[in-house]
Amino acid sequence: MVLDKNTIVRLQDIQFGYDPTSPDELAVRGVSLEVREREFLSIIGHNGSGKSTMAKMLNGLLLPVSGTVNVDGLSTANEEELWRIRRRVGMVFQNPDNQFVAPTVEDDIAFGLENIGVPREEMESRIMDALEKVGMTEFRQAEPHRLSGGQKQRVAIAAMLAIRPKVLVLDEATAMLDPRGRKEVLEVVKKMNRDAGMTVIQITHYLEETLTSDRIVVMDNGQAVGEGSPDVIYKQADWLRRLGLDVPFACDVQYRLRQKGIQLPNFSTSAEGVLDGLWTFV
Ligand SMILES: Nc1ncnc2c1ncn2[C@@H]1O[C@H](COP(=O)(O)OP(=O)(O)OP(=O)(O)O)[C@@H](O)[C@H]1O
Ligand SMILES: [Mg+2]
Repeated sequence: MVLDKNTIVRLQDIQFGYDPTSPDELAVRGVSLEVREREFLSIIGHNGSGKSTMAKMLNGLLLPVSGTVNVDGLSTANEEELWRIRRRVGMVFQNPDNQFVAPTVEDDIAFGLENIGVPREEMESRIMDALEKVGMTEFRQAEPHRLSGGQKQRVAIAAMLAIRPKVLVLDEATAMLDPRGRKEVLEVVKKMNRDAGMTVIQITHYLEETLTSDRIVVMDNGQAVGEGSPDVIYKQADWLRRLGLDVPFACDVQYRLRQKGIQLPNFSTSAEGVLDGLWTFV
């Protein structure tokens, strides 16, 4: 299958249910989505809306019961293409405990590199570079199970950064970090997106962290019910609240002002933008 020049991931009407005996109970109910190369995409949606299930179909961890998943022109339905897809799509999940296989942090990252055939002499520099990016250099000899939840998440992300997949999928992968740690790791991922052209698909409940995305997809009840730039999405506060979602602080301020009859000249997703808007009334 030939994809549009800039499309790297294409989901066509995918469906998935966990219980084959109840085929009508679906966790993902007909999602179609195209992700462009170098795009930074965020997926939001309340608990159980199907985000993780959809993510697991991106590299064939789960196969859709109907519909197709294509990555870089390869299909997850084709077993021979699956391993090539897995080299292109790196995934990091929320629970880092079941993501480690080796006795030390550096061996764990090396294991992933070995799997994709990175030459030994290149491994060292890739491991050091990735650990430095996530601020874990001093833990290279540490045993993964002795690390804190947040440190484990940093290592899990480093292991993926070392592999340099074309597409990085982060499914609440920084949820155990404190706000500052989350911000730091997000900056690293942003930089990989900007400078190395890595396509990023992040699933998060921290809406503030979606504000600099190129696009946001909103999931509800197994379906993609909306998509657009952060301004377009977060302007619709009533709709998001109906879906059980909140809106970022700056967007909420403007929503409350609007309810009091105060409409700023331009909608902004940042506190600075709101402040600029407020100045126009002085
Ligand atoms: N392993 C599983 N076995 C059976 N049902 C599952 C399994 N994992 C998820 N589900 C169900 O599938 C639906 C979608 O779940 P999913 O984990 O994809 O949602 P999510 O949007 O990632 O939620 P969260 O924000 O809580 O992570 C839910 O109804 C959930 O209960
Ligand atoms: Mg989930």
